[in-house]
Amino acid sequence: MAEMKKLMRALAGETMETPPAWMMRQAGRYLPEYKATRAEAGDFLSLCYNPDLAAEVTLQPIRRFGFDAAILFADILLVPQALGADLWFVTGEGPRLSTITDRAGFDALKPADAVHETLSPIYETVKILSRELPSDVALIGFAGAPWTVATYMTAGRGTPDQAPAHALKDGNRPVFDALMDRITEATIEYLSAQIDAGAEVVKLFDSWAGSLKGDDFTTYALEPTRKIIAALKARHPNTPVIAFPREAGEAYVGFAKATGADCVALDQSVDAGWAAKNVQVDGCVQGNLAPGHMVTGGQPLIDEVRRIKAAFSGGPHVFNLGHGITPDADPDNVALMLETLRA
Ligand code: CP3
Repeated sequence: MAEMKKLMRALAGETMETPPAWMMRQAGRYLPEYKATRAEAGDFLSLCYNPDLAAEVTLQPIRRFGFDAAILFADILLVPQALGADLWFVTGEGPRLSTITDRAGFDALKPADAVHETLSPIYETVKILSRELPSDVALIGFAGAPWTVATYMTAGRGTPDQAPAHALKDGNRPVFDALMDRITEATIEYLSAQIDAGAEVVKLFDSWAGSLKGDDFTTYALEPTRKIIAALKARHPNTPVIAFPREAGEAYVGFAKATGADCVALDQSVDAGWAAKNVQVDGCVQGNLAPGHMVTGGQPLIDEVRRIKAAFSGGPHVFNLGHGITPDADPDNVALMLETLRA
């Protein structure tokens, strides 16, 4: 039998001397080769829907740095688009979508299983990658978690406080709940198809989970994640799931147990020593170097990599940043991070 990939061993609960490593947004604008391929594709969305070029940009950081995992190149906002929302990207600003603010807006959405029609090129990218990736590199598929996707579908853009989503949730709960359910079903369909196409792990990005407090966190972050994981495990019992309830704070404690996640990804606001005691006790954790170190580098980067590695050395750990690498990062600092981790 082929040796198990490092990422899969950590996700199965193995404590390793050197943890496997990958990086959120590892294919991105800090790499000149990414910018060249994006220009060849025309724009960001054309790149997402071009399987050959999307596979190419997924492979670029693997070739350059030798990460232990590749993450499918796509975007969490392709699901709203596949459900019928208009989606475009404004260069230098970010995503824009048509918004859902009432029952009529919700009623115009397509059913969950309609997503396959629009998203089939993404499954093709996964197929190409599962053929072309080096045999020791694991392939991660992903989707946005329902709350985070709903924040974009209600606001039509990124927002500092997710106010439009909170307004619909508090002002018209039946419509908000129907929207959450539709996204949940579509996400199950989409991730299940990614696994069928060759994704070995899937990750749920709940980037705005931190704006949900108390019962709302349970209802709109924890519960949809639990539902998606239960449905995926029923169809694909051996595929591990990474959950990322970003900025959950104290609510990271017990999240893996409550949702069935095989690994919980930690943002950089969480102290690694605290997380080792309170979160890693339940299983694998991922994280959590501040992405700013990829810009500033030097001794502080080296010290932080060593500190995080040591803090999580008593249990299963996947080394990563606490959030995505930014376009102003220096690729040399990524190399320094890996060299320090693996020394
Ligand atoms: O390398 C990878 O991590 C895989 C690909 C990936 C992208 N987006 C590509 C991308 C993944 C996993 C995502 C997830 C994603 N997309 C999230 C969750 C993670 C997070 O960052 O919190 C969110 C919230 C989105 C929505 C989104 N897509 C925003 C807000 C933006 C604009 C901000 C920005 O960085 O420009 C995007 C665009 C985007 N998605 C880019 C990339 C490489 C940059 C687009 C470009 O090339 O111009």
